[in-house]
Amino acid sequence: MNIAYISVPYRYGQGKPGTEQGPAAVEQAGLFETLAVHGQEAVRYGEAAVLSEDAVREEDPQLKRLEGVVHTTNDLHLIVRDTLTEQRFPLLVGGDHSMAIGTIAGLQQVVPRLGVIWFDAHGDLNTPDTSPSGNIHGMPLAVALGEGHQRLTEIGGSDVKLQPEHLVFIGLRDVDAGEQELIDRLGIRVYDMEAIRTRGMDTIMEEAIAYLKETTDAFYLSFDMDGLDPSLVEGTGTRVADGILLDDAKTVLRHCAEQEDFIAAEFVEVNPLLEEGNGTALLANELIGNLLQYMRNHRLVK
Ligand code: ARG
Ligand code: MN
Ligand code: MN
Ligand code: MN
Repeated sequence: MNIAYISVPYRYGQGKPGTEQGPAAVEQAGLFETLAVHGQEAVRYGEAAVLSEDAVREEDPQLKRLEGVVHTTNDLHLIVRDTLTEQRFPLLVGGDHSMAIGTIAGLQQVVPRLGVIWFDAHGDLNTPDTSPSGNIHGMPLAVALGEGHQRLTEIGGSDVKLQPEHLVFIGLRDVDAGEQELIDRLGIRVYDMEAIRTRGMDTIMEEAIAYLKETTDAFYLSFDMDGLDPSLVEGTGTRVADGILLDDAKTVLRHCAEQEDFIAAEFVEVNPLLEEGNGTALLANELIGNLLQYMRNHRLVK
């Protein structure tokens, strides 16, 4: 009973209504049954606090709904930290990707040398100076690296949460100019679609995990649904052509699951209001099922 499902029903890191309904949609898709099938307690272990709509204003156009993001990510970092301290495996469902500011801050308090596998079409490395949208879901990795607004970089303490050599991208294919500059300057490891096609996901995941193991003590997977091919995910806000297909996504999950030092996973950017039916949430639930299946021998799963 060591998998701790934590929901983050919020949308303030981006502008489209609907990601606040992501966790409910994945629950509707059968998440509790999935947990039960894999021997886990079929409960919501925790839920991050979310400000009400009328308490959140646009204000700074380069940091939209900052107060809403600070509130939820601060609460989430405490939940994640405590869950990990209890020897449980945080399984987070969002919610837009700005929630990772809280996830990373919380994990890093327990694991100072934290590794991150970022499954995403996007870099999420913008700062208020480089962001084309002002949406904070395009900024969480910059924040973790210590770049960006102080209200965000200070969540979980003022130290830098993530080192550039402790991060790998899988499926990256839509990068803004400022993000590319940061990737180049910091020498961040990127596996793009070209690399996945030519070398295969198996090889890439082996290499990515070996690379992280050199200098980190544990790692987590941040899984943005838009890393997948748009044909698979109608219900996500920023789809990008030529994405990762199902078999390769499962390969990512399997390689993570096989590692003893794999300590958390999050599935983000499920937006059921962008589609008829519940296809993207159903897929997220299916992927979570795959992950739990692959983790059946994991030390944190009892
Ligand atoms: N790069 C764009 C921006 O900064 C899109 C970010 C999309 N991020 C996401 N987590 N879906 O606004
Ligand atoms: Mn993202
Ligand atoms: Mn994305
Ligand atoms: Mn290091």
